[in-house]
Amino acid sequence: MELTPGDERILAGESGETRRQMMELLVALGKVFGAERLVAIKSAQVSGASYKTIGKYGLEWLDQLDAKAVVPAVLNPIGMPRGRWREMGVDPEFAKNQELVIAAFERLGIRLECTCTPYYLAASKPGDHLAWSESSAVCYANSVIGARTNREGGPSALAAALVGKTPCYGLHLARNRRPQVHVHVEGMGGAGLSIAHFGALGYHAGKLVGNRIPYFTGIRPDPDRLKAMGAAMAATGAVALFHVEGVTPEAVRPDPAASGLETITVTREEIDRLFTDIPVDAVAVGCPHCSPSELAGIADLLDGKRVKIPFYVFASQGVIDRNRTAVAVIERSGARVYADTCMVVSPVMERYKAIMVNSGKALAYVPNMCGALSRIGTIGDCVKVATE
Ligand code: F3S
Repeated sequence: MELTPGDERILAGESGETRRQMMELLVALGKVFGAERLVAIKSAQVSGASYKTIGKYGLEWLDQLDAKAVVPAVLNPIGMPRGRWREMGVDPEFAKNQELVIAAFERLGIRLECTCTPYYLAASKPGDHLAWSESSAVCYANSVIGARTNREGGPSALAAALVGKTPCYGLHLARNRRPQVHVHVEGMGGAGLSIAHFGALGYHAGKLVGNRIPYFTGIRPDPDRLKAMGAAMAATGAVALFHVEGVTPEAVRPDPAASGLETITVTREEIDRLFTDIPVDAVAVGCPHCSPSELAGIADLLDGKRVKIPFYVFASQGVIDRNRTAVAVIERSGARVYADTCMVVSPVMERYKAIMVNSGKALAYVPNMCGALSRIGTIGDCVKVATE
């Protein structure tokens, strides 16, 4: 691997022991994956921030690091809303440990914006190199924005934040971004299909394509629907990049190469079968964290109503702060809009038996991560179930 003189100096320890270790980690990763060099990144998004996932040993590792991020860097969702953890019913012992994790990241210069949707806070551009680690954020960055990031682990994203570079392999290279399988969707080309339908499509398609790069035809989703699709495909498969013909930036024009690929056909009936009517004792939406337009849509549906079961909405603090009117309407119904956390990483959700979501990713993760049954429905159905 070819390193610049600056890289070599960091590796020799001239910028301190922590950066030396971080550079060592990046170089080792680069060698494993055949990178020829490191590439400068515009931003990092660091996972492994919930005490529920990193635990005592992860915290000890973070505590002994001593350097500051050199590029804008944010955190993935943590186990609780920082300002409202008591209200959410988080155990004080968990909260104490979670605060320690947060303090450790703050010391490292990571912004305490804990979200899987960093793209609503600071814009990335097509072609930007990034080191993001949350799978849905990675899928959105690559597919919807046209930026370039591999799916980093927590330590490698943190290393990239502290060094400002990442190994240049995988999805950083144009040649690795070509479609590998064609997915034709029947019966979902019309307007008006819900975000949940596209989440369910991603849930189903992820199982079919595995870790290949799919090229979709037959659909025209908007960014919120692309977000839902990608998040779910990253959860049930290992998709970090997908293309939609005529929609996503690297597939604006039909790709002739796609016609030579294996074609998988997905029908509307297959998607509809994922929508069940099992009874639930809570509703949780905002996986990935809500966009401003999703918050506005939820507010419209809940306006003037009262929820009869717990109703959680998750969004980044930045999006909440900029959409206070919608948030106030949602909370007047008794629903709660929480920042920093989500239905999968918060231990609070483990108290429910069955949770209704409008997300294909949450449909996949809730059973394992929360020990609850999961049911997918449109946001309209979620409001109906919670209020009637
Ligand atoms: Fe985000 Fe949590 Fe879903 S991290 S993508 S809201 S599981």
